[in-house]
Amino acid sequence: MPDNNDMTRREATKAVGAAAVAAPFIQKALGANNQVQYAVIGTGSRGSYHITHLNGIDAGRCVAVCDVDQTALDKAKKDTRDKPEGYKDYREVLARKDVEAVIIATPLYMHFPVTRDALEAGKHVFCEKSLVFKPEEIHALRRLANDRPKQVLQTGLQRRYSKFYQTAKQMVDKGLIGKVTHVSGQWHRKSLPKTWVPPAWRAFRKYSGGLTAELASHQIDVADWMIGAHPEMVTGMGGLDVYKDGRDVYDNIQLIFRYPGGQKLMYSSICTNNHLPLFGSSRTEFGEIILGTEGTIHITVGTDNEPATAMWFYEPGPPKATPAKGAEKAAVANASLVSTGKGGKGLPVLFDEDKPSDRDSFVQKELKFAKQWLYKKGVMVPEETKNPVDVQLESFFSDCRTGKRPLADLEVGLEDSANVILANLAMDEGRRVLMSEMDKMGGGPVKSAAQPAKKA
Ligand SMILES: NC(=O)c1ccc[n+]([C@@H]2O[C@H](COP(=O)([O-])OP(=O)(O)OC[C@H]3O[C@@H](n4cnc5c(N)ncnc54)[C@H](O)[C@@H]3O)[C@@H](O)[C@H]2O)c1
Repeated sequence: MPDNNDMTRREATKAVGAAAVAAPFIQKALGANNQVQYAVIGTGSRGSYHITHLNGIDAGRCVAVCDVDQTALDKAKKDTRDKPEGYKDYREVLARKDVEAVIIATPLYMHFPVTRDALEAGKHVFCEKSLVFKPEEIHALRRLANDRPKQVLQTGLQRRYSKFYQTAKQMVDKGLIGKVTHVSGQWHRKSLPKTWVPPAWRAFRKYSGGLTAELASHQIDVADWMIGAHPEMVTGMGGLDVYKDGRDVYDNIQLIFRYPGGQKLMYSSICTNNHLPLFGSSRTEFGEIILGTEGTIHITVGTDNEPATAMWFYEPGPPKATPAKGAEKAAVANASLVSTGKGGKGLPVLFDEDKPSDRDSFVQKELKFAKQWLYKKGVMVPEETKNPVDVQLESFFSDCRTGKRPLADLEVGLEDSANVILANLAMDEGRRVLMSEMDKMGGGPVKSAAQPAKKA
């Protein structure tokens, strides 16, 4: 929408407000009879976060919660809408015939044993990222899950369920930013939270893949998705430079992944500064930049407190000297982008429903123009109607019923885990690691999981 629009800010706000009031109230249907009966295994920080979201989802009913820690278990029992039974041993949960599905949010080193046992017990599985911890688990889980195609296996990579990320992917696929040549991702924190400090499991390599597994895994997956390929090589440098507290995982990592077409993912995670040089620095910590030959997308996922955001930047080409007949208007716009630097301003990424279409009534079109005007002025930002965490959980229950393959499926999860494992190897050994090395790693039997670390 052009900047010199004849609508004032007040008129636009009024139009959007009026339409919001007029919008029909959507009644949620209760699916009491067809609810998926599930258990949550691991009810610490992430498990309890899931419980607060699951409490609002009617497609599932929680019949059991499980944690080895009594405090976490008691809290989960108290906080869960459906008043589930509590268990300390997950195998007792899996023995229950009425448990159809499990949501696994244990520490990383316990993902595989619980997922394996759950699949063998005939359950559908949602397991948090990073899906598995060791090379042998990648091979074993692929075999195990592929032998059970009717059981759903979903990885907790919620960006795959974000409308913003899905829209960005569509823009990439439609060529709106040309050929993607680079992706850059960062997750910078000023300091590490309590759950990262010894004796918590995340601080130790025996249980944890460190920053690469805990944070980078999300963004490495975004790069794979946007580039539409898997990396062939990774190199990087990890440092343990800030936290002298007995931990043995890196507290800062820098990685470069190379993809078969020469594309690169440049990745950084540090714990001394949380500045995010995107969105006018209105956000902190994490985000990605997708760089194409014709444009760029800045994107970050929403949290409970902040909406997802995405901006699209046009990469100005040389001005067209002799515009084709009828294309004068476009050429003028193009030339002004070059001469005034407007290409650097960025446009909000719009969802399909925000774009006027021929099917819209006059009022609907006016409303969309008004919204776009407000987006462009920064008065309003396009918002996902749902947190992708809710979408991923609803989608899991739906897939349990329909048998549809999840967007973040087994292969997405395993590829992500392989990237994490090999990136850590590259940093540990100070060399370029080929992703094909995974084929020769971990061929032997899967060793049983290490003993649990103490809770923080
Ligand atoms: N997708 C995301 O954005 C996201 C965000 C945070 C955490 N996570 C993932 O969630 C997982 C859990 O992280 P967290 O922050 O909740 O850790 P946490 O330590 O807070 O919670 C883990 C819980 O699992 C319990 N547990 C350990 N062994 C168990 C077992 N054998 N049976 C049952 N319970 C067991 C622990 O007692 C603890 O309460 C990790 O894999 C993490 O990467 C994902």
